[in-house]
Amino acid sequence: MKYQESIEKRRTFGIIAHPDAGKTTLTEKLLLFGGAIQTAGAVKNNKIKKAATSDFMEIEKQRGISVATSVMAFEYGGKQVNILDTPGHKDFAEDTYRTLTAVDSVILVIDCANGVETQTEKLMEVCRMRNTPVIIFVNKMDRDGKDAFTLLDELEDKLDIKVRPLTWPIGMGDYFKGVYNIYDENLNLFQANKTKISKEIVSISDLNDPTIDELIGDKPAAELREDLEMIDGVYDAFDKEKYLSGEVAPVFFGSAVNNFGIQELLDTFIRISPSPRGRDTDLRMVEPSDDKFSGFVFKIHANLDPKHRDRIAFLRIVSGRFERNTFYNHVRLGKKFKFPNPTSFMAQDKSVIDEAFPGDVIGLYDTGNFKIGDTLNEGEKFTFKGIPSFSPEIFQELENLDPMKSKQLEKGIRQLTDEGVAQMFVQQPGNRKIVGTVGQLQFEVIAHRLEHEYGASCRFVPRNYHLACWITTNNDEQLKKFLNAKTGNMAKDKDDNWVFLAETPFLLTMAEQDYPDLTFHRTSEFKLD
Ligand code: G4P
Repeated sequence: MKYQESIEKRRTFGIIAHPDAGKTTLTEKLLLFGGAIQTAGAVKNNKIKKAATSDFMEIEKQRGISVATSVMAFEYGGKQVNILDTPGHKDFAEDTYRTLTAVDSVILVIDCANGVETQTEKLMEVCRMRNTPVIIFVNKMDRDGKDAFTLLDELEDKLDIKVRPLTWPIGMGDYFKGVYNIYDENLNLFQANKTKISKEIVSISDLNDPTIDELIGDKPAAELREDLEMIDGVYDAFDKEKYLSGEVAPVFFGSAVNNFGIQELLDTFIRISPSPRGRDTDLRMVEPSDDKFSGFVFKIHANLDPKHRDRIAFLRIVSGRFERNTFYNHVRLGKKFKFPNPTSFMAQDKSVIDEAFPGDVIGLYDTGNFKIGDTLNEGEKFTFKGIPSFSPEIFQELENLDPMKSKQLEKGIRQLTDEGVAQMFVQQPGNRKIVGTVGQLQFEVIAHRLEHEYGASCRFVPRNYHLACWITTNNDEQLKKFLNAKTGNMAKDKDDNWVFLAETPFLLTMAEQDYPDLTFHRTSEFKLD
């Protein structure tokens, strides 16, 4: 197959959702419809939300499972669909944010009863940062939820994006009759069925066709006609370009657990979603069609067996053809590396590959050379932008409980932060180590791994910080004043950037007012601007 065709056929995306909205179920159902698995239930839940926080076996299992199911690929409608999995547990949200740097589009799952939830908003903010095209799937229509028009308004208000329904629900809960496919003008009648794919699709060329009344009843048919008229009046016609530029999100309705509305979603996804896109670097935009290979690391996973230190670095290929056993530049280290066993992840199978193309994600065995955000390429040496750190939400000080093991602790925490398990800020002055995460669970993972993988023991002492802001300025004098005034709140991140640790949002606002020449950033993305 020609190189260009190999690129255009790929669709690399992620599924995101507030926990419990149905991400795992939808992922599984897409694999089922895509023929990658034969029966529902074959993909194990990649989440530990029901586990007690101290259940380390579950944490270990989670780590294992998420390697196995990190990328799920299948062929459908002539396209190669790559689903990049994101952790279901909210404490691993930062992992999800980073995975979003490696996708070309996303499907956002919403629970029709809960509408937009906290995690939905945060995840969408990350998508908006890079104008990632978004398709919204409103799930659980077999249950009573919010009225569809109310939901659409809520999506627009809270997610700061325009929406355009492409299917429309007929009733909901016990009265859910099916969805009308606005895009293809047909009616899909609902049958609650968790194991079989619904096939009752009736083509409708004229909305006044009495068949609709016969199939769903007079009242629902009248309502459907009224709703569709309203949709045409209120919403602009679907514009694919606006979807691709992240301005409009097409909306689908269905019930993942009942296999309902998935076919419409998948078929439309294949038709409208983007093929692999280029990425910006410190030198120039790199397009998938560039013939030299390039890619970046967005996730690092420790080996399941703690006795083996090697890790798997997940690389998203941006341009060119990646080949096994070929030397490539590791730009940050200024060294060349080759990879004898690059791995692809097809559903649950891992296999060694000889080549990979833009849009693909491959696993590289790593003995500690990679950090999240690293660029690997051939030829000209550039670095990909935009694999940021986000402000953590919980801060605790790392205390060494065994002075004889401080070297091990030092090495362990450095490697764990390279993996992106947490961020570390070193307080200045004082050199205290402040570890920041988005969830309590990470502290337990870190303590457990430091002990079992590095033989170091530690404890965490809560610190009263609320958020971390990276500082930039052209006014060194003002920065100096700020550093003097804020001892106790200042730290350096892993790349030696100044970070302000603020106890409250009010203190940050005050700092912004009092030091107008300092800019405070909520993510570290500014670094490469
Ligand atoms: P998540 O990955 O986003 O956290 O959600 P997940 O798919 O695990 O779904 C959360 C719960 O919602 C599950 O129930 C799942 O069965 C249910 N669910 C998913 N889609 C639908 C749907 O279309 N309709 C209804 N009524 N429920 C749906 P659970 O009780 O937590 O787990 P399980 O024992 O059913 O697996």
